[in-house]
Amino acid sequence: MSGAPAKPGAAAPEVGGPLLEVRDLVVEYATANGKVRAVDGVGFSVVKGGCLAVVGESGCGKSTIARALVRLLTPTSGEVLLDGPAGRQDLARMNERRLRPIRSRIQMVFQDPYGSLDPRMTAADIVAEPLKLRGVRAKADRERAAADLLDRVGLPSSALQRRPAEFSGGQRQRIGIARALASRPEVLVCDEATSALDVSVQAQVLALLNELRRESGLTYVFISHNLGVVREVSDEVLVMRAGRVVEHGPTATVLASPREPYTRALRAAALDPTTMRGRKPRDVLATAKGAP
Ligand SMILES: Nc1ncnc2c1ncn2[C@@H]1O[C@H](COP(=O)(O)OP(=O)(O)O)[C@@H](O)[C@H]1O
Ligand SMILES: [Mg+2]
Repeated sequence: MSGAPAKPGAAAPEVGGPLLEVRDLVVEYATANGKVRAVDGVGFSVVKGGCLAVVGESGCGKSTIARALVRLLTPTSGEVLLDGPAGRQDLARMNERRLRPIRSRIQMVFQDPYGSLDPRMTAADIVAEPLKLRGVRAKADRERAAADLLDRVGLPSSALQRRPAEFSGGQRQRIGIARALASRPEVLVCDEATSALDVSVQAQVLALLNELRRESGLTYVFISHNLGVVREVSDEVLVMRAGRVVEHGPTATVLASPREPYTRALRAAALDPTTMRGRKPRDVLATAKGAP
């Protein structure tokens, strides 16, 4: 036996390692004024079926992490390890040819349901497109699968032939989720997936994500600037500030007793949207410290 002895009555230890592990991730952008280090040595891991939330205010590097995970960008350094039948593979520096068969395993749901769907395509076509890539050749099979996927995210069959403009924001986000699911991913990276939605619609989409996780064992990296939203979905939370991790732990613990003043400010922003409106956690911190 290795590792710590199991406590009687404790949950069975995790079999195998995490499904996704990120080590010492660094991402720099080249700009006219030189390099910007948007992500600076971030590490975390997520077990299969788990949900890790990444929180922090605008500009702290959340979307950059998301884009690195799904390899919309190539990290400057660090590892993005995805476990699978072929063992752990590092996606961070993999070339496009080797990435292609792996891309379906880790999919992104984007923030903006308005901008991320092609306005000229019907919902059926949007959801069926990844099925083509997956090699579903017959049109009738793709149509049937698209109808099933839309049903799974709670849209009626009448939605199939409608275009994005004919849907509400919440419905559009459901289409975005169905499109991501069409690739049969193991990991969904949700980047502010509910942030553009009204509070009640947001709750419905969060419920859908939770249901998908329970039913299909999906693994999530859930990115949000709102700690209140994170509470609804995540087991663990990573708090980011200026490209670095400032706090990391079980969601319940971090929310109940945040160690970092920055996390406390984020929590205040999530809990009290009226008095905090228009104020950023860094400003609240500055005030609390008596800084000018
Ligand atoms: N394409 C880019 N070129 C240069 N700088 C960028 C680019 N994308 C993001 N940044 C900068 O990187 C930092 C992190 O951005 P981002 O990951 O979008 O943060 P978040 O999603 O937390 O709001 C910010 O300072 C942002 O201005
Ligand atoms: Mg972002």
